[in-house]
Amino acid sequence: MTVQNIRFQTATDELIVLDQTLLPHEERYVTIETLEQAEQAIETLQVRGAPAIAYFGAFVLAKEAGRLVDDPDFTRRLDLVGRRLIATRPTAVNLQNVIESLLDLNIGDDFEAIAEEIKHRAIALYDRDVDTYRAIGEHALTVLPAGGNVLTICNAGAIATSRYGTALAPFYVGKERGISFNVFACETRPLLQGARLTVWELDRADIDVTLITDNMAAWTIQSKRVDAIIVGADRITRTGHVANKIGTLQLAVLAKHYGIPFYVAAPHSTFDLTADDTIEIEERNAKEVTHIGGQPTAPVGITVFNPAFDVTPPDLITGLITEAGVFEPTETAITHHVGGTIHV
Ligand code: MRU
Repeated sequence: MTVQNIRFQTATDELIVLDQTLLPHEERYVTIETLEQAEQAIETLQVRGAPAIAYFGAFVLAKEAGRLVDDPDFTRRLDLVGRRLIATRPTAVNLQNVIESLLDLNIGDDFEAIAEEIKHRAIALYDRDVDTYRAIGEHALTVLPAGGNVLTICNAGAIATSRYGTALAPFYVGKERGISFNVFACETRPLLQGARLTVWELDRADIDVTLITDNMAAWTIQSKRVDAIIVGADRITRTGHVANKIGTLQLAVLAKHYGIPFYVAAPHSTFDLTADDTIEIEERNAKEVTHIGGQPTAPVGITVFNPAFDVTPPDLITGLITEAGVFEPTETAITHHVGGTIHV
């Protein structure tokens, strides 16, 4: 059984998240009581991964809706809550897709009914999406070579979704079926999601995983004969451009050089059919680059560029893997498989 990253008590609206900033040393759950705490939890990456922040945002919206039912200004205030949540992480589109879809319910003056429906849908989404990630894992197993060496970056695993993950789903589903892989995990500077989270998650599930630093990727692909690369996504546009954790683009370039397949695994809620190759890239605090574990590693005041994501063009992507199957990153295929299915 994979770890549960978010817990929401229906009767009390109690919202608890696994604090991912403390992993792998400490498994501590924190209670989120206010909107400000929720914003901070997303911004500091206590809760992270595009799908997970969307579920979390949905639970926060449900909680705030319940708190606001007696407020005559319910409609406007709930809308503001949604806008504030969406603004916390601009690149990952799942949060925006889910919140906007829930805000569509914010019509009329039966505030209790609206709050109940938002809560109902938030819970249903979290539960239902377990099947989504299982399906992604099943489809990925049809293209990854059983027993092969597979490279990944960041953490697109169970703790970034509601179970199984996206890029890590084939390893969990494979494990259930007796199919094994040798996973190579890039450490993922600056915040080490690969080293702290992916390695921790896979190792505790007894899945073979080897940690490398990001600058070891080319040599690892060549000397360890990596068969394929699989990554998650924060936003996939209708033109097949994929925003994902910084470092993804260089892996796609390497895959092309070495002639190995490069797959992107994501649910339909990660698609943005209104966008093309222009995606807003979140830039984060310079301290994430100048420090490791709170210790300075660079001269004080040095100029830093700290984009959290990069954009991989479709010509470097072998296939998109969603709950609907594996398909090419073309506008026609994306519209066919994903069009009309982005809903909560
Ligand atoms: O900054 P993070 O840790 O939220 O970045 C996460 C990623 O880039 C993941 O690959 C993506 O969100 C997909 S998680 C299933």
